[in-house]
Amino acid sequence: MPDNISAALLSWYDANARTLPWRSAPGPYRTWLSEVMLQQTQVATVIPYFERFTARWPDFESLAAADDADLMSAWAGLGYYARARNLLACAREVAQRGALPDSEAELRTLPGIGGYTAAAIAAIAFGRRAVVVDANVERVVARLFALEEALPGAKPRIHALADSITPQERAGDFAQAMMDLGATVCTARAPACLACPLRRACAGFAGGAPERFPLKARK
Ligand code: ADE
Repeated sequence: MPDNISAALLSWYDANARTLPWRSAPGPYRTWLSEVMLQQTQVATVIPYFERFTARWPDFESLAAADDADLMSAWAGLGYYARARNLLACAREVAQRGALPDSEAELRTLPGIGGYTAAAIAAIAFGRRAVVVDANVERVVARLFALEEALPGAKPRIHALADSITPQERAGDFAQAMMDLGATVCTARAPACLACPLRRACAGFAGGAPERFPLKARK
């Protein structure tokens, strides 16, 4: 079943992937920059910022040499300004080291790179097998397995289930396919199950009420 799930999802992605600027030439710099921008900000908001940043600072070296105030004003509107300060600190560290490291463990040691971002960069930029779980992926996994455990306690279980369906090859495409599926088909309020490549494997769909998942603990 896990192999069927990833194969079905990857063929869907091959036909339906969103065209996003960081997906063309997805090298370390562009992947890192996009994933940091996307940490707390919607895709549609990030796109023009990503285009402006990469036009002005096309690589780690140029960004490392940026003036702090210039960078902060270019970031204005994206919010969470600690991210911008970490972005600059990280670019300077990478420029000094010579390259962005390619393992999750080393990536996590850099400013502004936590577990999610390290996994996303390892998979997308370096083709490493890594388990990438953001809120969209949590929703897809919780529905696929009709997970009765509530968030946030269910996070470790969701990570393990995501691990169980992540393929050896194309882990970066798989991660982005899960994100696209969550953003466009397996949406929070009204999932379009009839358009879903995972419908036949989905326990949430089989149970008749996929939108029930993920359960959330009452505050
Ligand atoms: N959200 C975070 N990273 C993303 C990516 N690479 N593609 C689409 N949405 C994302």
